[in-house]
Amino acid sequence: MFVRNFPRNAPPLQRQLLPPVGLRPRSSFLLASSSSFSASTHSATTISRPIISSCCLTTTTARHAIQSYAARALRPPALARSTRSSSTSSRATTGKFGSARLPLAALAAAVLLSAVLAARSGHVHAESSKSEATVLPTYTRAEVATHTTPETGIWVTCGSGVYDITNFVEIHPGGSRILQAAGRSIDPFWAVFAIHQSPETRQLLETYRIGHLAPARTPEEKAANAAADARDKEALQGLFANDPKRDPRLVTLAACPCNAETPPAELTASITPTPVFFVRNHLPVPAVDVETYRLRVDGPTFPQEVELSLADLRALPKHTVTVTLQCAGNRRKDMHEVKATKGLQWTAGGISTATWSGALLTDVLRAAHPGFDLDNQGSADDDDDDENNNNNIAHVHFRGVEGYGASIPFHKAASPAGEVLVAYEMNGEPLPPDHGAPLRAVVPGHVAARSVKWLESVVLSDEESESHWQRRDYKGFCPSTEMPTEEDYDSATSIQELPINSAVLSPRPDSTVEAGPDGKLAVLGYAVSGGGRAVLRVDVSADGGRSWVAADLKPAAPRARPGRQWAWTHFEARVPVAAAAAAAAARKDGQVVEVVCKAVDEAYNSQPERVEGIWNMRGVLSNAWHRVKVTVTQPGAAEEKPEEGGLVERIGR
Ligand code: MTE
Repeated sequence: MFVRNFPRNAPPLQRQLLPPVGLRPRSSFLLASSSSFSASTHSATTISRPIISSCCLTTTTARHAIQSYAARALRPPALARSTRSSSTSSRATTGKFGSARLPLAALAAAVLLSAVLAARSGHVHAESSKSEATVLPTYTRAEVATHTTPETGIWVTCGSGVYDITNFVEIHPGGSRILQAAGRSIDPFWAVFAIHQSPETRQLLETYRIGHLAPARTPEEKAANAAADARDKEALQGLFANDPKRDPRLVTLAACPCNAETPPAELTASITPTPVFFVRNHLPVPAVDVETYRLRVDGPTFPQEVELSLADLRALPKHTVTVTLQCAGNRRKDMHEVKATKGLQWTAGGISTATWSGALLTDVLRAAHPGFDLDNQGSADDDDDDENNNNNIAHVHFRGVEGYGASIPFHKAASPAGEVLVAYEMNGEPLPPDHGAPLRAVVPGHVAARSVKWLESVVLSDEESESHWQRRDYKGFCPSTEMPTEEDYDSATSIQELPINSAVLSPRPDSTVEAGPDGKLAVLGYAVSGGGRAVLRVDVSADGGRSWVAADLKPAAPRARPGRQWAWTHFEARVPVAAAAAAAAARKDGQVVEVVCKAVDEAYNSQPERVEGIWNMRGVLSNAWHRVKVTVTQPGAAEEKPEEGGLVERIGR
């Protein structure tokens, strides 16, 4: 174990690609950008103020974006506000968001706000009409390509816009990776890093606009553009050089970053084989050197930040637990089919189960701070000034090496019964690169988005993580909220424990199946609930939900205790189908029937019948009854084929 007294603004262990965190600027950027608003380096040919494009910015949205930007700039970080002993308080206040710099941040944010609002009111050149748009100069791609350094100015294109981002590079949350796009189009990068596809990001980019991209007219220009496109693609692929080779059986929804479902046939196994465990990466897989790898652990009442090596973590008691990880977007496609959602169209394979081994987070916290009192948990509102109590701690932040971040409530992290792991093994083997090697958080019973991979730091705080994926994604909204506003995001609660869900794995959608001689159809699938709640019952129907059969449930995962049912349950049922098939035939419906499943957990929570009442724009928490349409041939006429080992054995691998 290594105790470090380095300042709080020390660079992360391996800063690779930090995604936008609510567009929060560093104060140094604010200084640079505030000056750039009054004088441009391209004043001869371009504009002297930021241009706000009316195509994507209204006064209201600009005000919201900038006010939020200013508010975040003005808000000291959670740690800086938290209780800390006097010996460490200086670190808290002189960190990169330290209070000493706040007036500058305030000033710069105010400048930015007034610049934007002034742009909208016509005090600066605003691209508010076609005629005004001609004020902006036009550049060829070749010209843009010559602007790749701070000396020349760092330019990028986005669509038909040209932007000078020289002053943004330093504050880009993804660090210097933005330079990969220097002198070229940022579009292919943004297509991959979907996090950029938000109005906020577009608005910010528009403040750097300096001109238009000239369309290619001559054959030479077209050829040059094609060559530039090829170079862009190559540069993009270079970012994923560290991604592993993947099992071809994975059902790939997006290759870079990798998003892939477990194939249906493998979802029937109690423990998902590691090579086909679903993969959900927001960014490229980072390169991690296990020799130098250290986990940073810190908290407001810690005397100092602590670094733990893998050997330190392995020396702690090893804890093994079987946990199902389910993506918030699992079954998004079912929601999307009713009304369009934003995101990859996951079917029922954004879920897998593994045995995970590692150190309990509670042990890690105690190892990092032996005097740490896990039981002394108050609320963030508690004003107790005792510097050693944890009353202000309400959240535990996890940060991934590549920049992903999330947090969980402290009460979950601090409870040994919560079984939160700092895991180094998956199914008895070291974690593979796609699943977080060498370390990941595993948060049983919570949405998989909180199980942060390539874990770099664990930090206690009075506030939730400021990560985009905590504050601006993985939240649920009222079904009528088609495009959540800043206020919607701020007021919505982050998803933690998942609701009850289930899915039919067999028969497959649109397949043709034979009923048994008893006129019944064999149906099997999985069911899972959040928060350690056991699945109590799964009801299965083969007539669209008019009649139901309670399915047989496979026994719970080994060692699962009451209140700690972290893994899915498989179910099987033989469901009468003959009448439904005959009715469908009579309706000239081609004997198509709808097989449905719905589960009930031990709190008697059950799945909603329809998508409409739970629809949300991001398609998360999609847990309406799972419906599969199949064609039934000659119900009752076909001879039942003996099933090898029976269904339970088949799904019990
Ligand atoms: N951790 C990091 N560092 N980066 C990520 O992109 N994705 C999260 C979570 N942890 C993510 C991460 C999401 S959204 C999910 S669903 C799970 O990891 C997926 O875990 P898996 O890829 O091991 O299945």
